[in-house]
Amino acid sequence: MLDTDTFTTPDGRTIGSTVMDLRNITLRFGGVEAIKDISFDIREGEIRAIIGPNGAGKSSMLNVISGFYVPQEGEVWFRGKPRPPMKPYEVAQQGIARTFQNIALFEGMSVLDNVMCGRLGHMNTNLLSQALWWGKAAREETENRAAVERVIDFLEIQAIRKTPVGRLPYGLKKRVELARALAAQPSLLLLDEPMAGMNVEEKEDMSRFILDVNDEFGTTIALIEHDMGVVMDLSDRVVVMDYGRKIGDGSPDEVRNNQDVIDAYLGVAHD
Ligand SMILES: Nc1ncnc2c1ncn2[C@@H]1O[C@H](COP(=O)(O)OP(=O)(O)OP(=O)(O)O)[C@@H](O)[C@H]1O
Ligand SMILES: [Mg+2]
Repeated sequence: MLDTDTFTTPDGRTIGSTVMDLRNITLRFGGVEAIKDISFDIREGEIRAIIGPNGAGKSSMLNVISGFYVPQEGEVWFRGKPRPPMKPYEVAQQGIARTFQNIALFEGMSVLDNVMCGRLGHMNTNLLSQALWWGKAAREETENRAAVERVIDFLEIQAIRKTPVGRLPYGLKKRVELARALAAQPSLLLLDEPMAGMNVEEKEDMSRFILDVNDEFGTTIALIEHDMGVVMDLSDRVVVMDYGRKIGDGSPDEVRNNQDVIDAYLGVAHD
């Protein structure tokens, strides 16, 4: 299949050309091989799930996709070009944003200020130019505010915008983290277990927001998730990892019926 082909999923959704192509990725931490020769792609507009047992290498893979880890072997192709190692701000400028497995917010700061942090990659004006070109800095500030307010409305967190994040229940903290990632207006959004530790109602809300983001903004999403019901409902395609290897890749139905996947993962209970 050519990179420029579109791809129709079994449930009739058309997804676009390849955004990210991971080619023969191997990642080691000292003697530990966290990722062993894995290849797969992420296509424009799809929701791509990465699943697998604890320690399978899922978060490591997301960190390779985000540019946080540089693999010892293999190539990461992004939008048709091999991607060199990048600094975090360069990742943001390329339109990639993420949330973390363990919530990483400023607990003492308000929801609004935390979400504003997601705009840092868009703030080009430095102090000197702020002094010299007040108009430009003011315009930037207005644009940033507007983008943040749109996200706050979209994720229905208006009522808590002034609340310090430390006072919020867990499910809402996860939503604020999503808000901060969305404030950057990413074209590729990476979510590491966005629903871990949530109750059923919180999971339903989060699932709806993820689908809405994908639908309304056309954002390509790669997510790690343990809840198979959620994975089956949300994702267009699923990569399955086990002990650093890829053991399955396909539509949710294909993966669910893959004997290797059943043996390694689906047959056992997960958190
Ligand atoms: N920074 C690191 N230094 C050393 N080893 C690491 C590091 N990060 C991950 N590992 C190891 O790499 C392997 C894969 O870890 P990873 O966190 O990617 O798995 P995971 O699939 O996300 O697991 P979980 O479901 O528990 O989050 C594990 O053996 C882990 O101990
Ligand atoms: Mg993980």
